[in-house]
Amino acid sequence: MARNTYNVDEDLEKGFDISQFKRSFVYIRRYKKPLIIAFIVSIIAIICGLILPLFTEHAIDTYIPDKDIKSLLIAGAGIVLTVIAQAICNKVRSRTVTIAGQSIIRDMRRDVYEHLQKLPFDYFDSRPHGKILIRVINNINSVSDFLSNGFISMILETISLVLIAGFMFYMHSGLALVVLCGFPVFGLFMFAIKKAQRRAWQIQANKQSNYTAYFSESINGERVTQGFAREKYNSDINKDLAAQASKGYVDAVSLNHAVWPVTMIISKFTIYLLYIIGVIYFRDTLKVGIIISMAAYAGRFWNPIQNISNQYNQLITTMSYLERIFQLLDEPVTVTDVPGAEPLPDIKGDVEFKDVLFEYEKGIPVLKEVSFHAAAGESIALVGPTGAGKSTIVNLVSRFYNLKGGQVLIDGHDISKATLLSIRSQMGIMLQDTFIFSGTIMDNIRYGRLDATDEECIAAAKRVFANDFIEKLPNGYQTVVNERGDMLSAGQRQLLSFARTLLSDPKILILDEATSSIDTNTELLVQEGIKELLKNRTSFIVAHRISTIKNCTRIMYISDGEIAEAGSHDELMEKKGYYYDLYMSQLTNE
Ligand SMILES: Nc1ncnc2c1ncn2[C@@H]1O[C@H](COP(=O)(O)OP(=O)(O)O)[C@@H](O)[C@H]1O
Ligand SMILES: [Mg+2]
Repeated sequence: MARNTYNVDEDLEKGFDISQFKRSFVYIRRYKKPLIIAFIVSIIAIICGLILPLFTEHAIDTYIPDKDIKSLLIAGAGIVLTVIAQAICNKVRSRTVTIAGQSIIRDMRRDVYEHLQKLPFDYFDSRPHGKILIRVINNINSVSDFLSNGFISMILETISLVLIAGFMFYMHSGLALVVLCGFPVFGLFMFAIKKAQRRAWQIQANKQSNYTAYFSESINGERVTQGFAREKYNSDINKDLAAQASKGYVDAVSLNHAVWPVTMIISKFTIYLLYIIGVIYFRDTLKVGIIISMAAYAGRFWNPIQNISNQYNQLITTMSYLERIFQLLDEPVTVTDVPGAEPLPDIKGDVEFKDVLFEYEKGIPVLKEVSFHAAAGESIALVGPTGAGKSTIVNLVSRFYNLKGGQVLIDGHDISKATLLSIRSQMGIMLQDTFIFSGTIMDNIRYGRLDATDEECIAAAKRVFANDFIEKLPNGYQTVVNERGDMLSAGQRQLLSFARTLLSDPKILILDEATSSIDTNTELLVQEGIKELLKNRTSFIVAHRISTIKNCTRIMYISDGEIAEAGSHDELMEKKGYYYDLYMSQLTNE
């Protein structure tokens, strides 16, 4: 998978792809009812707006010269009532459209979130998280605004354009033609800037995405930044990206801003033309009221055109955002249940690798025919140099990736044909960097088994010796921690994750360098905690410390994607091979 970073723009779509827009109808369709209501009330509001000049025209040309007070009063009341009706309709419209828009946001976010949870690790590994975030937050927001509001507006503006033209022709067809002659000029102008406009908005979206990516990376790396006193270095990058983002926006809107003056000029020019031609050609037949109302219509005629061109910009941005959102939704779920996958029954925990071949990136083999068998209840230590493939082996036990060749069997069942849920729910995985979710300590333990009672959570904590430190916290089990658990020491986070895992009671346990970042104070406790955890399950332990490894039933020395040596501590010591060297070098270091 191609990697992307904060300073690399994502690919731009080639042409204007209307199919993205069609696809968004899945979301629009669900809110047909409020959107149709919005549409109807908007039409009523438009008609109300169009009727107003009629009242004025009648008042000026007929009622005032006739001094017909009664009709004038009726016309006045008509104006007031139409204005009220228009206001009510507009209010109903904004409410229904807001509700529909928010519902679309909710639906899209749900779909995106659920899809993200199924994506393989390499999706998250290969791009900045900020670029995923901006799709879920900003892009969906902008898109929903167009899908609910902008889209209706665009149709309405078109209708109102046709209606205004209709009214003008009804009033005076000769003068109506004069107003319409500005139209082709405007069309030519729009056509000329269309491509540049689209491109400008795409660039803007990319720059915005890059900025978000860097910002989110900076939050996560803040400790390292301050630790190395690299605030200025980071600020400079931030400044540069922010400048690119603002420039992108300014460039994009400056093209939009060109539209307004052009419409203004055309609009004023046609009105001017209207007066001249009206006076020259229709002098004898023309009443003042007609020319005033025609000028009013001509002024209005350009409003919808301008609004349509604004919405057209929004349509362009929406397209590029929709493309990003759908791209995410289309991201293939590579590790998933195969058709007809069966759930694993309750397992004993027997694990077998048969000639397993694996690669992350095509053509770079990481595991070369790895075979071993771990009987239920065995504890297997994996040792060896960094990059040898230890983590890869344990990741394959949980089926986080698909194999290139061979089989992984659990209790004799090929796990590639079992459901992911049934595999992972019987497995406990602990990594070096224990993830703590924001919430209370109790919530974090309960994440291991959601229906566990408080007593069960506390019992699990006691068994792995986490209870002592938890009780010393300001609010004990109810102490609130943040998403990375910064207020806890590495050892404490580890003990907490032991409790979480013990609660889930997995048959197979994986500890990938789970003990490497532990301070000496907690180390003894952690060793005790591990002993407790290992009881009655098959375990795979990737570790450096001999103290952790020594007591395992078997040790596998992994080197360059292969098992170089395997056996118990005593056997391997006798053999005087890789493991012996490792052991001796640690002894001399200590
Ligand atoms: N997500 C990944 N994408 C591509 N290559 C990877 C990925 N994870 C690990 N590798 C590569 O696979 C090899 C084995 O890595 P790993 O199993 O993590 O080693 P170990 O845990 O023994 O240190 C290394 O060469 C590493 O660079
Ligand atoms: Mg590793």
